[in-house]
Amino acid sequence: MSETEALQKRFAAALMPNYGVPPVAISRGQGCRVWDADGREYLDLIAGIAVSSLGHAHPAIVEAVSRQVAEVAHTSNLFLHEREVELAERVLCLLGGDDPPQTPPVPPGGRVFFANSGAEANEAAVKLVRRIAGPGRPVIVAAERSFHGRTMGALALTGKESIRAPFGPFGLTVRFVPYGDARALRAAVGSDTAAVFLEPGLGESGVVPAPEGYLRAAREACDQAGALLVLDEIQSGIGRTGAWFAHQTAGVRPDVLTLAKGLGGGLPIGLCVGLGAAGGGFAKGDHGSTFGGNPVACAAALAVLDTIERDGLLAHVTAVGEHLAAGLGGISHPLVAGVRGTGLWRAVVLTAAVAAEVEAAARRAGFLVNAVQPDAVRLAPPLILSIAEADQFTAALPGILAEVSS
Ligand SMILES: Cc1ncc(COP(=O)(O)O)c(C=O)c1O
Repeated sequence: MSETEALQKRFAAALMPNYGVPPVAISRGQGCRVWDADGREYLDLIAGIAVSSLGHAHPAIVEAVSRQVAEVAHTSNLFLHEREVELAERVLCLLGGDDPPQTPPVPPGGRVFFANSGAEANEAAVKLVRRIAGPGRPVIVAAERSFHGRTMGALALTGKESIRAPFGPFGLTVRFVPYGDARALRAAVGSDTAAVFLEPGLGESGVVPAPEGYLRAAREACDQAGALLVLDEIQSGIGRTGAWFAHQTAGVRPDVLTLAKGLGGGLPIGLCVGLGAAGGGFAKGDHGSTFGGNPVACAAALAVLDTIERDGLLAHVTAVGEHLAAGLGGISHPLVAGVRGTGLWRAVVLTAAVAAEVEAAARRAGFLVNAVQPDAVRLAPPLILSIAEADQFTAALPGILAEVSS
């Protein structure tokens, strides 16, 4: 039995079966490469589901985390710590468009709540908008095919019946609208609406960008109805699309923004940002988290932000992302319908529901990709992916598809 098989056996016996048994046991990583328990090397084009923004074992994260853990690893919310203040200021400055960032930073109006994951960030956002809107506005508008997380509040907003249905009722009144349909959105938002929750592009539904003007239409509908606009940038934020935040490219400003995933570069962190007046929505005692604002996670996130800035990674993501999309788009194969997405957030769209087979064949060829939908393979590699690494996958894909076709 291989090391991987032995670990899989133990995994299946000791962990709940909600993930099935994963096909690879990752034992270490370096840059955009990972190695499994049997020493096999892979090019990591999924980065722990759009998380490991600086790849693996990046010296900036290793240094920041090691230093922080040696100083103090945890304070709880009974005490404050400089790293959490610094990180909140930095994120607010990025949202305020301070370019270059000021030293010391001057945050624009807004406030941050720290959580530990995407779902928790959205839970905070749900409570925040309910607190602000009050009982007279019980409805939250969300999109079909959206994904906001697996906890009860986040799941209530998630527009995938198959994962939501077994766990209701949720105690939230959610009105779902078809994603991308501005007219349907306008019709759904009214005087009963506390907030509209949207992703700037559907990540789990296959990296589907919002149609041009859709987020602006959402902003207008919220303004007209007096509702809050909440943007979930848990997957799209922190450089993934080549901008700090996808909504900046779309030219809209949310009232509430949620972040997680790539911000911590592999350390668990989530943020709920209230911009403007929404930042003052919680009163003392309204919400909390023992681990939220954890110094080690905050130190990692600061290292991620520093490195993105210092190494010009936003421009890099745009350039490598366009190169990758052009390369993949140039592949002529009956299984390839096209490529969609922005920056280093892409999906190879297939003409048949064979994404799982493509994922498995890619793995055998030494590439980690993700069958995000039956007919879509997601690529969300580290933001440091090089042109040469992108080209390796482009060169290998025809062979991978040939294996699937046969
Ligand atoms: C847009 C979006 N929101 C929320 C989440 C939930 O994040 P987490 O898995 O950290 O709870 C995800 C995770 O994939 C996501 O893509």
